Amino acid sequence: MPGNLLNGEFTLGGDGTLALLQITDTHLMAQPGGRLLNVDADASLDAVLAVARERQSVPDAILVTGDISGDASANAYGRLADKLADFEAPSFWLPGNHDGCGEANIDQVFFTRFLLSPHWLIVMLNSQVDNEVGGHLAAIELDALARAVDIANGTARHLLVALHHPLWPLGCAWLDPQRVANAEAFATEIHRCRKARVVLSGHVHQASDTSIDGVRYLTTPSTCVQFAPGAEDFKVDTCGPGYRWLSLHPNGHIETGVERVTDQVFPVDLDSGGYL
Ligand SMILES: [Fe+2]
Repeated sequence: MPGNLLNGEFTLGGDGTLALLQITDTHLMAQPGGRLLNVDADASLDAVLAVARERQSVPDAILVTGDISGDASANAYGRLADKLADFEAPSFWLPGNHDGCGEANIDQVFFTRFLLSPHWLIVMLNSQVDNEVGGHLAAIELDALARAVDIANGTARHLLVALHHPLWPLGCAWLDPQRVANAEAFATEIHRCRKARVVLSGHVHQASDTSIDGVRYLTTPSTCVQFAPGAEDFKVDTCGPGYRWLSLHPNGHIETGVERVTDQVFPVDLDSGGYL
């Protein structure tokens, strides 16, 4: 994974509340209809996006927080771009442990480092480590976070950080070791930010919402298979696939929630002993 995958900046539309959708862990395979633990990743993503179109107004941006492809195939990235094109909102992607986001696989226009709105700054970080399931923030990523904090402080903006891996344990013994290994370095930087701070992650295929030392940490269901909260060992969950919406207000107030598909069932292989 090139260290400079995430580059440049983009100015988001709108001048009031910033509306975002988070889509994560789509796990699309090379062939349409490819499955993860028996769940058709295309069908479940299509159902999630249909729910989002029905229940949300057009967002200012869609954030896609990694494990976009389950097999790092170019076809998977192309299909996600096609599926999201219907939204009439720009989408911004970052890699997860399953991804291979080199130029041969994907249009690099999706990998933007900083997203600017009048009251909020979004920074996209790459926590992927080659050939590892767990996350780590390389020096270039911590430098980008430090730059984001400096911009936020210098322009009186609030800060949203998006990255694939969570920073802190969620209470799933089998998943918790996969969190960002150097989370303390992340915390040192983000605590310098003087305005509102929120961190969006994927990877854990479950929703969580925790505030630690004044920073709000959110995780979000996969658009495919769900993992059971509080599980000691690998365990899938039977709840539906979903997404997260956020309304980020000019004063730093954060409204957010998770929506799931409720009118279709995607039978998951409950007997599977693991997942990589
Ligand atoms: Fe992941």
